[in-house]
Amino acid sequence: MLDSNYFHYTDKRLICEEVRLEELASTFGTPLYVTSAKSLIDSYRAFEHAFEALPHFTCYSVKANFNLNVIRTFAELGCGCDVNSAGELYRALQAGVAPEKIIFAGVGKKHEEIAYSLECGVLMLKAESLSELRAIDRVAGEMGKIASVALRINPNVTAETHPYITTGDSKEKFGIDEAELPEVFALFAQFANLRLIGLDMHIGSQIFDPEYYVAATVKLLALFKLSKTLGFAIKFLDIGGGFPVTYDPLKPATPIESFAGKLIPMLLPAGVTVIFEPGRYLVANASVLLTKVLYRKRNHVGKEFFVVDAGMTELIRPALYQSHHEVQAVTRHGETVVADIVGPICESSDFFARHREIDAVAEGELLAVMSCGAYAAVMSSNYNGRLRPAEVMVNGCEVKLVRKRETFEQLVQNELF
Ligand SMILES: Cc1ncc(COP(=O)(O)O)c(C=O)c1O
Repeated sequence: MLDSNYFHYTDKRLICEEVRLEELASTFGTPLYVTSAKSLIDSYRAFEHAFEALPHFTCYSVKANFNLNVIRTFAELGCGCDVNSAGELYRALQAGVAPEKIIFAGVGKKHEEIAYSLECGVLMLKAESLSELRAIDRVAGEMGKIASVALRINPNVTAETHPYITTGDSKEKFGIDEAELPEVFALFAQFANLRLIGLDMHIGSQIFDPEYYVAATVKLLALFKLSKTLGFAIKFLDIGGGFPVTYDPLKPATPIESFAGKLIPMLLPAGVTVIFEPGRYLVANASVLLTKVLYRKRNHVGKEFFVVDAGMTELIRPALYQSHHEVQAVTRHGETVVADIVGPICESSDFFARHREIDAVAEGELLAVMSCGAYAAVMSSNYNGRLRPAEVMVNGCEVKLVRKRETFEQLVQNELF
C-alpha cells in the first residue's frame, strides 16, 4: 500500500490532501484522474533542494504529464520545460512558460517544428544527428536567425530499467554516438547559422542506480573538455531526466540525494549551468486514477476478476512496460480477496494488476490506481470509442476541474462524410 502526505487514509477512507476521493467521484464521475498540487510542489522543491549546491536549471519534461495546470504549477515555481514536439511547445507556452525557459528535444523534429521553435525563441534545440543539424542550420538561415543548439550524445551506457525506456545505449535511435562527436565538432564550422551552447544526454527512465549517471557523465565531461580545447563556448551540460519513483512499496526508489551526492562533485568543477529534465520524478506519485468496480466475477477455476470502468486507455503502463501499480480501495474493508483488476477494453493486456490481494470491495465501490501522474493521461486514447476522463487538481480543501471529460461529439468532431 502506498500512503503519503498527499494520499492517505482517514477513518478507512482514502483522502487526497483534505478531500475525500468518494466526494470527487460523485461530483465528477469516474474514471477520474486526481492530482495533488502539494505533491507536485513538494517534489519540485525536494529536487531543487537536492541539487542546490550546483548551478542548475530544471526543465520539467512535459511529456510525463502535459496538463496545462501541471505545467503552470511548476512554471510558477521558476521551473523551465523540456518539450518533445511542437504540440508540447504550444502547451508549455499556453501554460505561461517563457520561451527562453524551454528546451526542445526529439529525435525527429520536422522542419515546421524547427521553424516554430525558432520563431518562439526557445532557449535551445537539442540536435540528435548531423542531418538534423543541417536542417536546423538551413531553416535558421531561411529565417535570418542564429539557432542555439545542444548536441544530444548517446553515451552508450545501458541503464538497468525496462528495455523500452532505456535510451542511452547505441542500439537505440537516440542521440549522436559519443564516438562520432569529434567529427561533428570538426564539421560544425560549416554551419553558419548555428551556435553550439550545450551538450546533452538522457540515458533512460526510472533508473535506480546512480552509477549509470556517473558512467554517462564521465563521457559527457570528456566531450565537454574536448569542446573547450576546440574553442566552443558550451554554457549548458544537460543530464536529462530518468530519476526514479516508488511504484511498489517493496521496491522503494533510490532517494534523489543519492544521485545529487554523486553528480554534484563531478559537475561542479565544469563551471557551467547543469540542466536537468525530470518528468516522472516530479509527477508520478502526485496523481491517482479513480475507477469504479462494475462487476465482480469468478471463473470455473476459482479465479476472481474485478472489472472496473477504467482500462488501458487511461493507463497503458502495465500493458506496455509490465509496470506495477498499487490498487487501493477508496473505502477500506477488513476482508481481502485475491483478484485480477481488469478494464473493459477488448484486449487481454487490459489489466491494472494480476493476482493481487485487494480489499473485498463490492460492485459499485471505488478503487484508486496509484502513481498515475506520469505517462498515464498523456498516453490515454479513444481506442474502443472511449472518452478521455476528466482531471481534477486538489490543493488543500480546494478542488479544480483541470480537464473536462470528453464528449461523444468530440469523438467524431474531426471526421467528415
Ligand atoms: C529527452 C528526455 N528528457 C527527459 C525525459 C523524462 O524522463 P523521466 O520522466 O524518466 O524523468 C525523457 C523521457 O523519455 C526524455 O526522453
